[in-house]
Amino acid sequence: MIAQAREWLESAASVAVLTGAGISAESGVPTFRGPGGLWRNFRPEDLATPQAFERNPQLVWEWYDWRRSLIAKAEPNAGHRALVQLEQQKRSFWLVTQNVDGLHDRAGNRRISKLHGDIWTVRCLGCGKASRNDQVPLTTLPPRCECGGMLRPGVVWFGEMLPQQALEQAYFAAQRAQVFLVLGTSSLVYPAAALPRVALDRGARVIEINLEPTELSSLAQVSLRGKVGELLPQIVTGNK
Ligand code: OAD
Repeated sequence: MIAQAREWLESAASVAVLTGAGISAESGVPTFRGPGGLWRNFRPEDLATPQAFERNPQLVWEWYDWRRSLIAKAEPNAGHRALVQLEQQKRSFWLVTQNVDGLHDRAGNRRISKLHGDIWTVRCLGCGKASRNDQVPLTTLPPRCECGGMLRPGVVWFGEMLPQQALEQAYFAAQRAQVFLVLGTSSLVYPAAALPRVALDRGARVIEINLEPTELSSLAQVSLRGKVGELLPQIVTGNK
C-alpha cells in the first residue's frame, strides 16, 4: 500500500491535499472529535457560532485566546514539512486545509487555501477591516479595533459561509488533481468532505492517511492507518 501510494505520488504532475486537525495533533494541537478532542469537552453551539459570540463575546474570546496560546507553543511536525517538500516538487500543487492554526504557513507552504479561516487573524465588526494579530495572550478581551469596534476571530463558525475564494481554489484543485491526499481529517464536515469525492469523480487517485477508518476510507483507492507525521514522509521522500 505504501509503495503504491509512493509510486502514484511520484508520477503525478498535479497533486492536491486536504488536511484536518489530525496533521497538527503530533504538534500537540488538540483535534475536535477524537479522544481529548475539543468537542468532547466544549459545545460548539456555546463557542463557535455567530449566536454564541453575540451572546457572550468574552467567553468566546477566552476560548480562542486559550487555543491561540496552545498553538503558539506548537511547532510544525514531520507531516507539515513533507507537504512543503511536495509543494517544491510539483508544478501543480494545492493545499486545502480545514485547520486555523497556521502551522502550514509556519512550515513554509505557500499554495494554500484556508477553508475555515485563520486563528491569527481578526475582523472588526464595526469597520469590517481584517488584520493579522499575533498577540498571546491578548491584553484585552474582547480585543478592539483602532476604530473602537469589537474584533472577532477570523475563523469560520458553524452556520457561516466559507471564504469564497478559498472554496473556489479548493474545488479547482480537486478537479485537476491526479493524486488527492486526505490527511488527518474525520471527513465529516462539509463542504471540505466533498472535495475528495469531486477528485474521485474526475478520475483522481485518492490516498487517505488517518489513525482510524473514516467515511472516506472505503472510497479512497489507498487508505493508510497510522500517523501522518510517520507515514507521509515515507510516501513523499524519494520524489524527484
Ligand atoms: P476531527 O477532530 O474531526 O478529526 C481528526 C481526525 O484526525 C480523526 O479522524 C483522527 O482519527 C485523525 N487523527 C488524529 N491524529 C492523527 C495523526 N497523528 N495522524 C493521522 N490521523 C490522525 O478534525 P477535522 O476533520 O479537521 O471546523 O474537523 C473538521 C472541522 O470540524 C474543523 O475544521 C472544525 C471542526 O468543527 C470548524 O471549526 C468550522
